[in-house]
Amino acid sequence: MCLIDDLESVLLTDDQIQDKLREVARRIEADYAGRDVLLIGVLKGAIMVMADLARHLEMPVSIDFMAVSSYGAGTTSSGVVRIMKDLDRDIAGKHVLLVEDIVDSGLTINWLLRNLRSRQPASLDVFALLRKPEALKVDVPVRYLGFDIPSEFVVGYGLDYAERYRNLRCVGVLRPELHAG
Ligand code: PRP
Repeated sequence: MCLIDDLESVLLTDDQIQDKLREVARRIEADYAGRDVLLIGVLKGAIMVMADLARHLEMPVSIDFMAVSSYGAGTTSSGVVRIMKDLDRDIAGKHVLLVEDIVDSGLTINWLLRNLRSRQPASLDVFALLRKPEALKVDVPVRYLGFDIPSEFVVGYGLDYAERYRNLRCVGVLRPELHAG
């Protein structure tokens, strides 16, 4: 489903997203051959990309989730992060791939990387489906990237506005009159 009426434009179709995830999955299989990989998804935005990327991978992986919340209202994050749900297991000695739907300012992933690194995984890398290069406030080491997108208000495929639109199969620009930010 892609609620065309609520979108000003469709940035990425379901097919484009799935093709990219397949391509990234092949790279991950090659890079992590012979290793146990733990995918860590950041709730809630990463649920769709986590489910699809994991199913494109033709290797057994483990999955865990964290939920974080950035303080401050509005549609941009402040960089101060609070853990709402932590990982279920210790990651010391594990090969961890952090899975994010979007790197916007980069502050969330930057904070998460510092937090996870302190738990001493064997390796720690990032997959982000989307990145807004113009919005970046800090340099973020994204090893696997889906798409660079313009700095517009996007929803769908995990991304919400006021908790709506996460279930869209596409990523689109929300019509300005439908959001406050
Ligand atoms: C979104 C997204 C990233 C973060 C990126 O999460 O899923 O985690 O913002 O923004 P940043 O690069 O500017 O820090 P959000 O806090 O909206 O929560 P959600 O995943 O539950 O929608």
